[in-house]
Amino acid sequence: MIEIVAATKSYGAAKALCGVDLTIGAGEAFGLLGPNGAGKSTLVRLLATLSRPDGGHLRVGGHDTVRAASRVKRLLGVVFQENNLDRDLSARQNLLFHAGLYGLGRAADRVAAMIGRLGLSGAADRPVGQLSGGQRRRLVIGRALLPEPRVLLLDEPTTGLDPAVRRELWDLIRHIRDGGCTIVLTTHYVEEAEALCGRIGIIRQGRMAALGTPDELVARFGGPRLEDVVVRLGAGGGA
Ligand SMILES: Nc1ncnc2c1ncn2[C@@H]1O[C@H](COP(=O)(O)OP(=O)(O)OP(=O)(O)O)[C@@H](O)[C@H]1O
Ligand SMILES: [Mg+2]
Repeated sequence: MIEIVAATKSYGAAKALCGVDLTIGAGEAFGLLGPNGAGKSTLVRLLATLSRPDGGHLRVGGHDTVRAASRVKRLLGVVFQENNLDRDLSARQNLLFHAGLYGLGRAADRVAAMIGRLGLSGAADRPVGQLSGGQRRRLVIGRALLPEPRVLLLDEPTTGLDPAVRRELWDLIRHIRDGGCTIVLTTHYVEEAEALCGRIGIIRQGRMAALGTPDELVARFGGPRLEDVVVRLGAGGGA
């Protein structure tokens, strides 16, 4: 479903990605870990067709993210690292606006169903500025799901949330995964990647330092826990 070949991206003199190769199958949930500035969000932006690679190519559902960006967008739901909601509109109005952008039919019904699924019924008509961080995160995930994407990109979906809200979001993401959606998730919470993702990539300074299931990574790089592998590789050792 996702094919990334030798992807490079620089911002001025800063090399954000230095030749990343990655293949993710349909229905797979893939976790991207790595220290601040490693290139995770850059990779998400390239997949989301928001920026172009300097070299290499990325394909989603067989479509090139540069030459067939509009076809790629039709397959994607994206949750960016920063919430980009209109704070003056209510949760429902934000969803309706998004449904309108996508030209989705039966928008009011679709939005009402999504609000129920997100557990936001009690808060749906309050301005987003009055919602908690966890409610806002639910809302941006729900918004990304409205067009029923085949692939969902989640950039740090639970950062800054309390453990109970994080677990609620895990349940939501598991449900999406179990419905067959392909998921790419970045996170700094190792246990989150372990809970949700079959395979994990550890990215460091724009390179994929390690790739595999949690068990494979621990076996290859030594543990005892996956978190130890992430810390070691993030600091520059092991690979
Ligand atoms: N628009 C930009 N302009 C200039 N430099 C950028 C831009 N976006 C990213 N960078 C740089 O590219 C590198 C990778 O950034 P990126 O946001 O992909 O990291 P990240 O792994 O998502 O980090 P974090 O865990 O902090 O979110 C960093 O050195 C960053 O400063
Ligand atoms: Mg980031």
